Amino acid sequence: MNITVIGQGYVGLVTAACFAEWGHQVTGIDANAERISALQAGHVPFHEPGLDELVAGNAGSGRLHFSSDTSDAIREADVAFIAVGTHDGNGGWQTATILGCLGDVVPQLPDDAVLVIRSTLPPEFVHQVGGVVETLRAQSGRPALVVLVNPEFTREGAAIRDFTEPERIVFGVLNDPDGRGVARLRQLYAPADAPVLVLPAVDAVLAKLGANLFLATKISFVNELAALCDAFGATIDNVVASMAYDSRIGGGFLHAGVGFGGSCLPHQVTMTVRTAAMAGVPAPLLAAVDLINQGRRAELVARLVDQLDEPIAGARIALLGLTFKPQTDDLRDAPSLAIARILIGRGAEVYAYDPMESARALAASLVPDIAVRPSAEAALVGADAAVLVTEWPEFRQLDWPQLRTMMRGRIVFDGRNALDPADVTGAGLRYLAFGRGLREASVSMPADGDAPASALILIEGGGPIQPIPIAASRTTADEARTRTSA
Ligand code: UDX
Repeated sequence: MNITVIGQGYVGLVTAACFAEWGHQVTGIDANAERISALQAGHVPFHEPGLDELVAGNAGSGRLHFSSDTSDAIREADVAFIAVGTHDGNGGWQTATILGCLGDVVPQLPDDAVLVIRSTLPPEFVHQVGGVVETLRAQSGRPALVVLVNPEFTREGAAIRDFTEPERIVFGVLNDPDGRGVARLRQLYAPADAPVLVLPAVDAVLAKLGANLFLATKISFVNELAALCDAFGATIDNVVASMAYDSRIGGGFLHAGVGFGGSCLPHQVTMTVRTAAMAGVPAPLLAAVDLINQGRRAELVARLVDQLDEPIAGARIALLGLTFKPQTDDLRDAPSLAIARILIGRGAEVYAYDPMESARALAASLVPDIAVRPSAEAALVGADAAVLVTEWPEFRQLDWPQLRTMMRGRIVFDGRNALDPADVTGAGLRYLAFGRGLREASVSMPADGDAPASALILIEGGGPIQPIPIAASRTTADEARTRTSA
């Protein structure tokens, strides 16, 4: 089939490359001529595991082309996907881009083509789309078009697998009187072994939003639960591990930490709260989800400041991780940036490292006072505290005993509950996280960095008995809640 994908951002490029991989002739179109030139030269403009190879392979075999000229590709399309942005970048929806795109594309599409909207649509807007398309066709003297929506459920960092091995595929019908559109999409998605749901368009749009809103709710829920764990001396990991055995709950998206970022979850929560208010429907649960999520960032700083031995003004803080999650270079609504801004606003010096060079460069331009460093070690030299914001696997391999000798202070704030607390406390450092209590250094670090002495201590929570370092003599009010177990 000839497929045209309009919009070569994250969703559009993954869609184009995956359909090409399944053997179709695909043209990716974007109004941004610079982006198209880069793609034509073989440069994928963002990091997504496996996408460079997929684009190069399919461009090389002649199945995938890129163009900034809409005309030819649209006039030959059997199916045209629209995958342009619908966020205004400020917590609201915007439909100007998609309306402009429909204005370009709809009059030119062949009469038997199928138009598919893959962009996430504002629920109230979906009711207008059919009328807009109908009017554009009538004005150009062409018959009505088959129009469907096909929301994506793509996670950054796992986008290719999410496309090729989806858990479900959703088609929403806007105008498909004889079922030709659904039949064509079924054919397109045949290689994916997944249930297909054919729904009214507005249901499909809400099904997409509903999934993301629920995921966001789970994260804010677990973060509130983590705060309760801290208050009552429980460990969130144990609490969630137990909850996850309940098949009604499940364990996914219950990882406590500094909260969700990215281009989807935060925006879709705030946009839905606004849209609901405009429709006269209160959405107090979703408003709380946003409040809790945004609150994690300031909460991290407040707890960090509380633990520092010196004033925050003039303190040096090392941020480990900048991207909103691992395996991406995306900084959109990344908690790291908000945290860096708060810290800098309070007079701290912020040194940051992320494995993605492009993310380091972008962070330095977005937060000019941030000092980016080429390695975790370089960010940590002379630091009063380390704050892990993104759980990149390499941070789990850090050599804390060695880093302790390079740091000025003793605090490690694990903002993603990603580290083994014993690795940190055993190195003579104090460990903070979300819902894991405050864990004091379990050993005094000798000045020359010699290995600490160890003793056998019972690990709580049913774990095996393991040798872990002798607890240091420090006594604080928090020590009553300190755990020596992992
Ligand atoms: C999300 C949806 O998962 C995806 O289905 C949709 O199509 C687009 O939005 P994405 O934004 O790529 O995908 O990231 P996701 O993996 O959902 O994570 C979002 C944020 O939540 C990240 O900042 C992540 O660190 C955080 N998160 C995730 C948690 O804090 N805890 C969790 O348990 C899971």
